[in-house]
Amino acid sequence: MPARLDHTIVHSRDRFAGARFLAELIGGPEPKRFGPFASLPLEGGVTLDYADERGPITSQHLAFLVPEDEFDEIFGRITDRELPYWADPAHDKPQQINHLFGGRGVYIDDPDGHSIEFITHTYVID
Ligand SMILES: [Fe+2]
Repeated sequence: MPARLDHTIVHSRDRFAGARFLAELIGGPEPKRFGPFASLPLEGGVTLDYADERGPITSQHLAFLVPEDEFDEIFGRITDRELPYWADPAHDKPQQINHLFGGRGVYIDDPDGHSIEFITHTYVID
């Protein structure tokens, strides 16, 4: 059995702002202080530990698999907030979603430039 991811660190200019941005989009809990982190627990037991970073932030990619009804809710919050979104990671298709693998997908950037993706169907890898 492969190891299950337990937590990872997401670098941020403001750890609570970064964690709250995602928490508000997904309808998640208020991030909690845990040592130097703003910790955001996710479905499946993975925790994102947002950490303040004063130096350059390298953009990370975080992809979330969500049910269709949650995608509707998340996409509604994206459009309510008038956030820019894309159908692709290269930002070639603005204000569109994709329909890859029989599902729906959308990309947004968080306040730190991390690329956040929401999909309703996982990638199919042959
Ligand atoms: Fe992805």
